[in-house]
Amino acid sequence: MNPISLSEERARAFIQERSLVGRDFLSISDLSPGELEGVLAVASAFKAHRRDGRPFARLSPFNAMAMIFEKPSLRTRVTFELAMSELGGSVVMLSGTEIGLGTREPVRDIGANLSRWVSAITARVMRHQTLVEMAAAASASVINALSDREHPCQAIADLLTILEKAPQYDGGQVAFIGDGNNVAQSLMLGCAMLGIDFMLACPPGYDPEPDLLQKAQLSSVETGGTIKVMHDPVAAITGAVAVATDVWTSMGQEAEREKRLLSFADYQLNAQLLMKAHPEAIVLHCLPAHRGEEITADVLEGPQSVVLDEAENRLHAQKAVIALLLGASLVN
Ligand code: CP
Ligand code: NVA
Repeated sequence: MNPISLSEERARAFIQERSLVGRDFLSISDLSPGELEGVLAVASAFKAHRRDGRPFARLSPFNAMAMIFEKPSLRTRVTFELAMSELGGSVVMLSGTEIGLGTREPVRDIGANLSRWVSAITARVMRHQTLVEMAAAASASVINALSDREHPCQAIADLLTILEKAPQYDGGQVAFIGDGNNVAQSLMLGCAMLGIDFMLACPPGYDPEPDLLQKAQLSSVETGGTIKVMHDPVAAITGAVAVATDVWTSMGQEAEREKRLLSFADYQLNAQLLMKAHPEAIVLHCLPAHRGEEITADVLEGPQSVVLDEAENRLHAQKAVIALLLGASLVN
């Protein structure tokens, strides 16, 4: 794996390059590996500047973002709204129900109308296809705030956390224990793009989508990493420097909850399993967590857990995404 530079110099050059301006961000693989590294450098620069109370880049005040939520959210909603306001733009918050997304009005009409007022449409949707339809009709940049297929903004925050906190991340793999879901799929693709080894252990039948697994494996051939999906959590976690998990029942799958509780019973991230990882491995969870299901309370709240750093990094990651898609200018 090539060393990844999170330097401010890299961040400044990437902002000035303006190569992401006007683009959509539906999948982490909408970025090239070099662009993903650029986004991470910009996120890291925003983080350092915020800590020091110095602005890094800002938008014209005429930039606005519409946010549409078809599902609940704490972290995504708060961090996008704060990111936009700290960049100098404004946010209009909408629920899928109030605007009748696809019922009162077709998705494409909503995308076309919103594009006359805002420069970005950030949406959390039941079906990934809704984002694809929105992006086809909208001249505004469409950003995926979670779909049934991917959670790319989460993956940027996760990768930033791994680069900041995992011990010798280039010497051991990232392990994901649990469902091959939206969060797992974006993290798998992101690791592949950066040449980070990634192993996912899930029950049979809960593997990542074959097309995304194939895309990740092809990408990892280019970047020199390894992507593996298996059904043995001990094999996946042994020697890992970062261990991630997520809920067994995602939003929209509530009817399958009882079945999933049985299927995933052997895939809990607990102290016994974590012992197999690198002794200083970090523990990631996108949150919200279900203590006693996919993760035990002692692991979630234990010394190896970086879940709050990860949640904080959503702010810096999304600020970078917005700044780059909307063409923010460096301050000074
Ligand atoms: N991790 C995450 O996306 O959290 P929310 O569902 O609260 O936005
Ligand atoms: N996989 C979870 C992530 C929540 C942030 C879900 O889709 O509900």
